[in-house]
Amino acid sequence: MIQLRVLATLAISVLLTGLVCAAQSGVTYDQARWDPIHFKPAIDTASDEQCLVCHREVLERKVRETSPAGVVAQDALAWYQTLDTYIGEQETFHRRHLATDYAHQVMDLKCNTCHQGNDLREETANSSATGQSDLVQRKQVDPNICLMCHGKFNYPVMGVPGSWLEHGAVFGNSCLTCHVAIRTNRHNVNFLKPAAIEEAGKSSADVCYGCHGGRAWYRINYPYPRNPWPGAAAAVPDWAIDRPTSSNPRFAVAPNPGNAQ
Ligand code: HEC
Ligand code: HEC
Ligand code: HEC
Ligand code: HEC
Ligand code: HEC
Repeated sequence: MIQLRVLATLAISVLLTGLVCAAQSGVTYDQARWDPIHFKPAIDTASDEQCLVCHREVLERKVRETSPAGVVAQDALAWYQTLDTYIGEQETFHRRHLATDYAHQVMDLKCNTCHQGNDLREETANSSATGQSDLVQRKQVDPNICLMCHGKFNYPVMGVPGSWLEHGAVFGNSCLTCHVAIRTNRHNVNFLKPAAIEEAGKSSADVCYGCHGGRAWYRINYPYPRNPWPGAAAAVPDWAIDRPTSSNPRFAVAPNPGNAQ
């Protein structure tokens, strides 16, 4: 019963947040919720500012200072937060990717890098005869997007004998020992800052390792495109035969002279 009441209060407060936002922009909650900007094609060209008119809370919310059981957030350290790049207080998911100093330094993620439109109502397309199976389900984001920066370190293709934590020292704890000349045509995508990444990577391997194994949520690696680079051998290794040779057109941008090459 108590739980039910809590749920009801929650539901009402969520509804109210929506109503307040809708009232501000002069539309009803349902109009705001079903605003065409949530769907293709409008979402493809939506700017962050357009989304933030209604969703400013995703960048403003802070994590709790203590958990309900009393654990102090500031004293907690997750295994992936031990990389050199993690600084400052504990942050929410959105702030960690869009608002922290490090996020600004090396990334340029937009709302629609991840959000590609979703069914605002259904958790599953099969719940009714009119379910729209072509829409991504509620809040879901294509996990391949996450995998690009949260996959395993693919050491078998690199001639590195095993995990970076065990073998990094042999290579001077720097990815650039090899990557100064290998796969140098990299990061030319609209959600990364390639020149800043190279600069930061010189002083800490955790910059490179972070996105390439140091905070792997997955047990697999991302099959990166193999953009041709100066000095690359003509022969394609067996493992790379099926790899694309250019970045996903949704993200690709022309290389800048200031980049790795
Ligand atoms: C006119 C106001 C408005 C705009 C502009 C808007 N949204 Fe929304 N959005 C809403 C409302 C209202 C909801 C429903 C919230 C709820 O039910 O809790 C919603 C729901 C969502 C949800 C699903 C939340 C959930 O709980 O399932 C996501 C994700 C989302 N919006 C992302 C975006 C993105 C990305 C943009 C920009 C491309 C955007 N929205 C633009 C008003 C807006
Ligand atoms: C790195 C990918 C990524 C980016 C960039 C991103 N989101 Fe999200 N967003 C997600 C994921 C994943 C969820 C689902 C979280 C969950 O289910 O708990 C989510 C959830 C949401 C929700 C539902 C409410 C909530 O907080 O869970 C809204 C609204 C939303 N995002 C809006 C935005 C807006 C607006 C932007 C741009 C300012 C944005 N997102 C940028 C991945 C992203
Ligand atoms: C462009 C690269 C990139 C993409 C795409 C990306 N992340 Fe991240 N993510 C990062 C970086 C970088 C950090 C750590 C930032 C730091 O060290 O301060 C991070 C941190 C995190 C954290 C830890 C947050 C914290 O404060 O402890 C979670 C959880 C996370 N990402 C989940 C996701 C999910 C889920 C997706 C897909 C919806 C996603 N990420 C997409 C780069 C990315
Ligand atoms: C011993 C040399 C060496 C070191 C050290 C090294 N790499 Fe590599 N790396 C390679 C080679 C060789 C390839 C594959 C080249 C090719 O495509 O033919 C590669 C490929 C990659 C790829 C693409 C993988 C794929 O599946 O397409 C990434 C990402 C990468 N390295 C990141 C890193 C990071 C991050 C570090 C440091 C933590 C690192 N490398 C350290 C030699 C190295
Ligand atoms: C913020 C996350 C992030 C950081 C930091 C980062 N990478 Fe990447 N890296 C990516 C993503 C995402 C891609 C795939 C881009 C694409 O689709 O073209 C990638 C691609 C690559 C590739 C494959 C390039 C190709 O197109 O053949 C190599 C090699 C690589 N990174 C090495 C590095 C090295 C070395 C560093 C440090 C100097 C580094 N990365 C830092 C996210 C990151």
